[in-house]
Amino acid sequence: MTTPHVRAVIDLGALARNVSVLKSRVGSPALMAVVKAGGYGHGLVESGRAAIAGGAQWLATALLQEALSLRASGIQAPILAWLYTADDQFAECIDKNIDLAVNSVASLSSIADAAESMNRTARIHIKVDTGLGRNGIMLADLPELLRELNIRAVAGHVTVIGIMSHFAYADQPSNNTIAMQIDNFMKAVDLTEAAGFELEVKHLSNSAATLGLPHTYFNLVRPGVAIYGISPGGEVGDAHDYELTPVMSLRSSIALLKDVPAGTGLSYAHQYYTDVDTQVALIPAGYADGVPRAATNKGPVLVGGEIRTIAGRVCMDQFVLDVGGLDVALGDEVVLFGDPARGEPSVELWAEAADTISYEIITRIGPRVAREFINAPW
Ligand SMILES: Cc1ncc(COP(=O)(O)O)c(C=O)c1O
Repeated sequence: MTTPHVRAVIDLGALARNVSVLKSRVGSPALMAVVKAGGYGHGLVESGRAAIAGGAQWLATALLQEALSLRASGIQAPILAWLYTADDQFAECIDKNIDLAVNSVASLSSIADAAESMNRTARIHIKVDTGLGRNGIMLADLPELLRELNIRAVAGHVTVIGIMSHFAYADQPSNNTIAMQIDNFMKAVDLTEAAGFELEVKHLSNSAATLGLPHTYFNLVRPGVAIYGISPGGEVGDAHDYELTPVMSLRSSIALLKDVPAGTGLSYAHQYYTDVDTQVALIPAGYADGVPRAATNKGPVLVGGEIRTIAGRVCMDQFVLDVGGLDVALGDEVVLFGDPARGEPSVELWAEAADTISYEIITRIGPRVAREFINAPW
């Protein structure tokens, strides 16, 4: 059997533990694990199952197709999806008891019409824009939506399960938009309840809020990145400080070792020159695998027991390390990122090296990278 050129090793036991750590942190509110974008690159269904094993009562995706894939895998837990196009798979979702977020009178009409034509009732969460300025209905437009919801609820086309919103600045706990968004959220809750709707769940807290803003929990939290053992960044601090363990490690191996003289230019456009006679290692992982090209001369890699920085350009399929002075052999494993507790570079370090956020590093792992699932808690 050949070894894949790059492996993403996914520790599902760590994912389940992270969920249970977060659950202990929040206490009685329920936890909705966000597994959109293929479980943030960790595997959609595997992440969903591990989150449930860790105690998550709900799952969430952005896209309807992902919610349907979770359901098709046999997951029975409630699932919410919040991002769709005008003619999306509403009927399929209603048929599979997938909750849908409503962000406008127009989206309510599409969803309610689909439910009516099937003689079914769609499960709805009202998605309010409390200040993020993205998806969700503006507070000023909520009364009109509530009137339409009332008509559709009485007709049996929809039932309102919950209300939700999303923060703009949860990773900056002192930012004054947080109080403003909480205030707007409470206004939306009051308006909805005054219109006669009983809200089973009210949810506002992403990872940063789940870790740092307990007054935003209401009765359900909705973390994503933290369940994968990664800090949302900003002022939140290290994942390790919250007893969260990175779930994914990205591993490759040395595909070629060669001696080169001082003054050798390495990789395209010679962005790195060896300053002494040295040995270089070729690593078969490139931007097609999700290694950001922006990490040229910056990305940290554990090799031969030390962290070395990528030498020269990251190419489509490969990059080079200067391994001078290290005791390494052809085929030795190298680790791009993983658990700092094992001496591996963190995803957060890679994000810094590539001038981006951790979310982008993990969700951009390419399709040809082999996912290897370990420690499944089932
Ligand atoms: C609506 C919504 N809720 C929750 C999350 C989870 O956010 P995080 O991964 O920062 O916890 C996201 C992710 O972007 C989101 O869009």
